[in-house]
Amino acid sequence: MSKVLIAPSMLAADFGNLQRDIEMVNKSEADWFHIDVMDGHFVPNISYGMPVIQAIKKHATKPLDVHLMIEKPERYIEEFAKVGADIITVHHESTIHLHRTLTQIEDAGCKAGVVLNLTTPVSVLEDILPKCYMVLLMSINPGFGGQKFEDMTYNRVKKLRQMANEKGLNTRIEIDGGVTDKNAKALVDAGADVLVAGSYIFRSEDQSETIKHLKAVANR
Ligand code: DX5
Ligand code: ZN
Repeated sequence: MSKVLIAPSMLAADFGNLQRDIEMVNKSEADWFHIDVMDGHFVPNISYGMPVIQAIKKHATKPLDVHLMIEKPERYIEEFAKVGADIITVHHESTIHLHRTLTQIEDAGCKAGVVLNLTTPVSVLEDILPKCYMVLLMSINPGFGGQKFEDMTYNRVKKLRQMANEKGLNTRIEIDGGVTDKNAKALVDAGADVLVAGSYIFRSEDQSETIKHLKAVANR
């Protein structure tokens, strides 16, 4: 059984052929659907919201990993749960009472995770880590797909994995931004176990084959 999960980012899908792309992910070796929600405030871009997530949920046969890049995500947790989110991650930088927001996610029946921007020290997670099903470390500045992976991520993953180990925790560590077959193995070696990939998968010739390849490289 493979240990490292692959989560294709639907931000890079073809929205004119969304059902086709969902079916591709369903049939592929991918594990989750990564769903990026952007509000034009927390990040400079606007992506999509509830109706699109609901449409994805209707056809998806794998869990929806919903990454909220919105200010005050606590305003919308129940709605995201209602339209089908299985995992909800919120940015540490976006919510003042993080502990309360994670509890809200759990109470809504979802798995709760925290996301850190590139320059937020992983040490801020010291106290909250036991409550996190997953931590997502951004490997780009969030807001857009297709950006260049930042090498500083490797060290951040190492530090976070060490912190989790010291606490005896099995926290999933997800990486998001610029992931390809070139950095996948090194990320896993550093301690990551969920890889998000958008443009690398959706801009490739044979998307399903690319997922298979990325998964194989990650689990090597
Ligand atoms: C960016 C999003 C990512 C994005 C990744 O803010 O969080 O999930 O879709 O896209 P790639 O893999 O193209 O960097
Ligand atoms: Zn994302």
